[in-house]
Amino acid sequence: MTDLRPWGHLPARAKPRARGRLLGKVVVVTGAAGGQGAAEAEALTREGARVIATDVTGASGCRRLDVTSVEDWTELAAELRQAYGQVHGLVNNAGVTWRARIDDVRPEDLARVHAVNVTGPLLGIQYLVPLMRPGASIVNVGSSAALTAHYPVAYTASKWALRGLSRTAAMELGPRGIRVNIIHPGFIETDMTASAAPAFREANVRGTPLGRTGTVDEITPLVSFLLSDEASFITGAEIPVDGGLTAHGGAKPISDALNA
Ligand code: NAI
Repeated sequence: MTDLRPWGHLPARAKPRARGRLLGKVVVVTGAAGGQGAAEAEALTREGARVIATDVTGASGCRRLDVTSVEDWTELAAELRQAYGQVHGLVNNAGVTWRARIDDVRPEDLARVHAVNVTGPLLGIQYLVPLMRPGASIVNVGSSAALTAHYPVAYTASKWALRGLSRTAAMELGPRGIRVNIIHPGFIETDMTASAAPAFREANVRGTPLGRTGTVDEITPLVSFLLSDEASFITGAEIPVDGGLTAHGGAKPISDALNA
């Protein structure tokens, strides 16, 4: 007779997990006023985490934190130590872009983007790791730009640098039981991509095997997973979430042309 209980036909290990895989974990998310950061803060809260959503804008629901500021990180770490005694997770999500090309980009543009996209995550690691115990997890938000020759050179250089930071941090913090991974979103619909030219969106869709852009809700499950104990042996990994954009290494236009 057919077993009509929900999921009754699946072995116990394959049953969908109840929400709450981050129950009791204290997690800091940077750049959480909008876009992916806001979605991450919401999703992690749904998973049971005590989320400290932060942003430079001080938007409602966010604690004000400029990721480039040593003073801000010092204050936040002191507050977290007092309130919780420890931190289980950090999502280095805050990021900025600057769409100057190689002929026009100035040293100060490079420095400004690097400060937010690289120095910010480094400070987050330096100031929160002392509050982390074995089992803690750090997720850095890279970009498909970190795997390619994306044209906004300041942004691309910063995200490649963040890859290096992630790998070194994974190596250095592994012996302390702290995991560090980096995810590489492709074109995700947020304010950042809304500010790009329509041609950028169209070209991304053409270059993406899944044939569309992604949403913030397609990023959050991976972040939740990497922060959870289910990912307990995953560190130093780089995971694209890009609909296949970076997988073909530039071969898609060739395939498309021959198909046509
Ligand atoms: P967004 O522009 O919607 O959000 C970025 C957030 O970071 C904003 O709330 C902003 O106020 C905050 N922020 C900027 N400077 C800050 C600072 N100094 N301190 C603290 N917060 C600061 O962008 P989105 O798309 O949500 O980006 C999130 C992350 O994902 C970024 O690291 C971005 O580089 C990365 N990314 C985004 C992609 C996309 O297609 N949207 C693709 C690949 C990577």
